[in-house]
Amino acid sequence: MTEFWSVYVTVLTLGTLFALTWLLFATRKGQRSEQTEEKVGHAYDGIEEYDNPLPKWWFMLFVGTIIFALGYLVLYPGLGNWKGLLPGYQYLDTKEQTPFANGQTGWTGVHEWEKEMARSDARFGPIFAKFAAMPIEEVAKDPQALKMGGRLFASNCAVCHGSDAKGAFGFPNLTDSSWRWGGDANTIKATIMAGRVGVMPAWGEVLGEDGVKNVSAYVRHDLAGLPLPQDASFNLDAGKQAFNTTCVACHGANGKGNPLLGAPDLTTPTAFIYGTSLAQLQQTIRHGRKGQMPAQAEFQGNDRVHLLAAYVYSLSHGDEAKPAE
Ligand code: HEC
Ligand code: HEC
Repeated sequence: MTEFWSVYVTVLTLGTLFALTWLLFATRKGQRSEQTEEKVGHAYDGIEEYDNPLPKWWFMLFVGTIIFALGYLVLYPGLGNWKGLLPGYQYLDTKEQTPFANGQTGWTGVHEWEKEMARSDARFGPIFAKFAAMPIEEVAKDPQALKMGGRLFASNCAVCHGSDAKGAFGFPNLTDSSWRWGGDANTIKATIMAGRVGVMPAWGEVLGEDGVKNVSAYVRHDLAGLPLPQDASFNLDAGKQAFNTTCVACHGANGKGNPLLGAPDLTTPTAFIYGTSLAQLQQTIRHGRKGQMPAQAEFQGNDRVHLLAAYVYSLSHGDEAKPAE
């Protein structure tokens, strides 16, 4: 933070605190100190206001919050560049024994997080390492590994893929047999480590409005095998032709997709994450889509991702991957 903003924040914070303290005492001045029967003159709906002092407990509570705030600001980094009196500590990465680059002193939330991570690494590190040395297919049969993987999934993946991993609009189902990028153990791990970006270009300009409608109908009817409304008129042949010139490069001649590009299988209705209604298909084809799976390598590290991959693998490899009882 620059000096200016540091001073700005400090003055604003302390100024507010002092202003509140002043207000509290200023309004008390000249007030009676005992209960009275006198009214201040406000009356509404038959309710009248007595001219009584603030309740003592309320007053003390207010003073207490101000003292608490001042104490907090002395101990913790809350005022601009002030680092607080609480001691920081130099976190040593237990594996490499090098000080962290930002070895600043004073309490920080980042240090607290690093401390937590170091504690959990010390506790679970050996277990993670044991599983990381095993093939994913084997890890996927170990009940303890699946429990740990499930917990990691719940806190890192469920926001997008759902707590049951069945996905949602825009987020793929990880429990079925259709995969955009591939469902073998190592591919799943690669997906989680490095992330993925699925790029479906926009075709509205290229195909024109009729072209978009025809090819949408072709995808829905001929590829996905879903019914078309009777009253609407489409040119399925023109749609097929457009598909064969424009779409095959990525989705394949039979529409089964291409895992190298993350181009999905268009012949399985449940594989669509952006919907199969004509309106949704037209939207996808007209404007394109760009699904992003965020990379986890940096945040989770290899060993945690290994467990996550085993957990995800177990979801779709039913009995084959069930823990041996
Ligand atoms: C450059 C490669 C490429 C081309 C060409 C291409 N697509 Fe795609 N398409 C993709 C990718 C990759 C995705 C996945 C996008 C995502 O995951 O966000 C996709 C997604 C889709 C989807 C959505 C599927 C779902 O999950 O809901 C539809 C429908 C689709 N494409 C139809 C077409 C049609 C029709 C054409 C031809 C007009 C076409 N695509 C051309 C790469 C391509
Ligand atoms: C911010 C949302 C988000 C989070 C968080 C997220 N994902 Fe994803 N994930 C996606 C999207 C979107 C895709 C589809 C990418 C595409 O369009 O190709 C995806 C794709 C995947 C795939 C590939 C599916 C296939 O069909 O090939 C796997 C495996 C996966 N995610 C696992 C995970 C795991 C494990 C986690 C937790 C560490 C996770 N994801 C966290 C959004 C997310």
